[in-house]
Amino acid sequence: MSFDLSVFANKNIILAVTGGIAAYKSAILVRRLKDYGFNVRVVMTKGAQAFITPLTFQALSGNPVHTELLDTEAEAGMGHIELARWADLILVAPASCDSLAKFVAGLADDLLSTLYLATKAPVWVAPAMNQQMWAAKATQRNLNTLVEDGVHVIMPAAGAQACGDVGLGRMPEPEEIAEQVKDYFHKAQRALAEKFGLLAGKKVTITAGPTREAIDPVRYISNHSTGKMGFAIAAACYAAGAKVTLLAGPVSLDTPNGVRRINVSSAMKMLDESLHQLEEGCDIFIATAAVADYRVAEVAEHKIKKAGDELNVALVKNPDIVATIAQQSKRPFMVGFAAETRNVEEYAAGKLVAKKLDMIACNDVSRKDIGFASDENAMTVFFAEQYQMEKRDLEKASKQEIAQQLVEAVHDALHNEIDPV
Ligand SMILES: Cc1cc2nc3c(=O)[nH]c(=O)nc-3n(C[C@H](O)[C@H](O)[C@H](O)COP(=O)(O)O)c2cc1C
Repeated sequence: MSFDLSVFANKNIILAVTGGIAAYKSAILVRRLKDYGFNVRVVMTKGAQAFITPLTFQALSGNPVHTELLDTEAEAGMGHIELARWADLILVAPASCDSLAKFVAGLADDLLSTLYLATKAPVWVAPAMNQQMWAAKATQRNLNTLVEDGVHVIMPAAGAQACGDVGLGRMPEPEEIAEQVKDYFHKAQRALAEKFGLLAGKKVTITAGPTREAIDPVRYISNHSTGKMGFAIAAACYAAGAKVTLLAGPVSLDTPNGVRRINVSSAMKMLDESLHQLEEGCDIFIATAAVADYRVAEVAEHKIKKAGDELNVALVKNPDIVATIAQQSKRPFMVGFAAETRNVEEYAAGKLVAKKLDMIACNDVSRKDIGFASDENAMTVFFAEQYQMEKRDLEKASKQEIAQQLVEAVHDALHNEIDPV
């Protein structure tokens, strides 16, 4: 889950293909944009159709391809003005010399040039042409004008060209262009979240996964926590505009996009790092990690050899991370988790008070259909008395959805605080 692909599902891209030899690369570009979750519609000039067929783009984009301006049928479906409004970005790739010149001149004699004039969406062009055509004064003059007009130019790469020349003018690889588009939307989304998100500007520290308590250099005590819930919460907090640090126990999960991850192993290391985060500044502390209650009193320096029928290993109590953080003078808003197998709500409500938490989310790990390794969860959230908030039952849903609801609960509590501890 290094990147949440669903975030671009509502973003619309018009890929305009013009008459250049690089048009074959645009077929792959459609695939890569779709892989990121974008909705893609393809517009083709007459020139482009001499190089590659609309059928290819229709199959790859899953949408009809738009080729005509003066076509009553096309206008009834999605005409140039509707297309212009539909687009969140118009990407012209490859952009021929001819199309660049038309944009500069303000012509409107085919679908693409008319679309260019009719849209408010950002326009990106990826010029691709013979190196001499690229270097031509007219082309460079046109590009300068387009940049002045606010068009973003994806610079061509240098190398061997289809015509046998070597030089500047190759269209960058589709993967590269798709990644630039993804980064653009991601940055725009991030800027919005940082301004208007539910946790805009908040610093959040989240602990996740199990801890590992060494017995000797090759053995350890641990538990079944996979870290999925904590990682989902980290992603949701980031999407809500927070700066997120994830203290991760040993788990095999990719770091959510935009999240700073610090790997820790033992409970003692997790505590050290948690205290360090507090020093660095932390507004909200969310403790999802399944921290071992006990650690081995004396970790053997060398591998313990098999001997006798019994082996006794003395354990000592680990510090309670969440309670320790909650006791600090500059305490953040504290969210605890309770995974219980019986009397779930009763234990959770007790923990809320005993550990001086602001909020606790509890789940019943005896339920086979949710919890630990599952992709779904269900929870009940309790708030400390001063928030004067009713408990919330979060019905069974994906961990991403539960994470989103937890973010909302944190936000609501922060705005409801009557008499903070
Ligand atoms: C084989 C061939 C390859 C071409 N390759 C390019 C090219 O890579 N870049 C370019 O700007 N024009 C290229 N052209 C010229 C354009 O196809 C021509 O200018 C056409 O009018 C462009 O139309 P459009 O901008 O409406 O797509 C090529 C022409 C031919 C015959």
